[in-house]
Amino acid sequence: EEIQEVVSEQEVEQLMQNLLKVTIMSNKLELVNYQGFWHPNIKNYLKTFKSTLMFQRHFQPRNTDIIIASFPKTGTTWLKSLLFSVINRFRYPKDQTPLLKYHPHELVYGLEVDVYGNAFEYPRPQHLDELPSPRLFHTHLPYTSLPESITTSGCRVLYIGRNPLDTLVSLYYFSIKMMRKMEGEDFCFSMEDYFEDFYAGRMPHGSFFEHVVGYWKQSLERPDKVLFFKYEDLKEDPKFHVKRLAEFVGVPFCLKEESEGVIEDIVEMCSINNLRELEGNKSGVINKYFEKNSYFRKGKLGIGLII
Ligand code: A3P
Repeated sequence: EEIQEVVSEQEVEQLMQNLLKVTIMSNKLELVNYQGFWHPNIKNYLKTFKSTLMFQRHFQPRNTDIIIASFPKTGTTWLKSLLFSVINRFRYPKDQTPLLKYHPHELVYGLEVDVYGNAFEYPRPQHLDELPSPRLFHTHLPYTSLPESITTSGCRVLYIGRNPLDTLVSLYYFSIKMMRKMEGEDFCFSMEDYFEDFYAGRMPHGSFFEHVVGYWKQSLERPDKVLFFKYEDLKEDPKFHVKRLAEFVGVPFCLKEESEGVIEDIVEMCSINNLRELEGNKSGVINKYFEKNSYFRKGKLGIGLII
């Protein structure tokens, strides 16, 4: 069954008629409200309302699946590279890790974007059944929109959150780049207006605050299934949190690995300065509009005021 065909355009159009819509960024980016959160609805590009429907209706999880969840610009790329490294450390020697060649987004697929959406150009897995276990995925959906098949199965969810000011600034620069590619190089909008929209929750996958709180609550209620990371904590003590990650996903580091420096090697491989310089991340575009290197900007704390 072709994934693209399971929800028709006609049905999507009909359902959309009853949804709230707003436009942000000088009226250039339309958002539609579905299940209390805003979804980007960009013509011929990223329409996550449709792909969310497909994801919700058709995804069949395995109990071994591991899903990274995040609001955009909170450290998704970093967590993808760390999770991929931890899970695949027995499969590839460190000098042959696919991270040397591929962008982390090409190794951990976004469910509503890569798998069920149509934005990305690199080969997508049409047959998710063929992927080896544990399958690693990513989603920007809020917890309450995850399909029940995930929330009631054995799947584990890793969430990464970041302080709102740094998230806002990171998203602002990322969005400007994206909009300039779509609308032309002279496109601009002010940080002040962007702040207003962010604060009011009018962002793709927003509200940011409700997104974070939803997963935070779940991490308290179902600590065996949902693990919450903070970007700031990862920065402060990456080794501790990589160990925490490995334990949570069921492949803790043994003493021999610890003494051989395996954790330090993973932390180093996934550091922003290392990833940024790798062939797979340096040049090229990850989909129509995003330069691969735009996922590695500053990677600092408290960047809110440093422009
Ligand atoms: P800045 O714009 O503040 O630099 P996402 O991956 O969710 O899109 O988030 C992108 C943010 O994470 C960017 O923040 C980016 O620089 C930062 N980032 C990417 N890779 C990182 C890494 N390996 N370590 C720390 N931060 C990283």
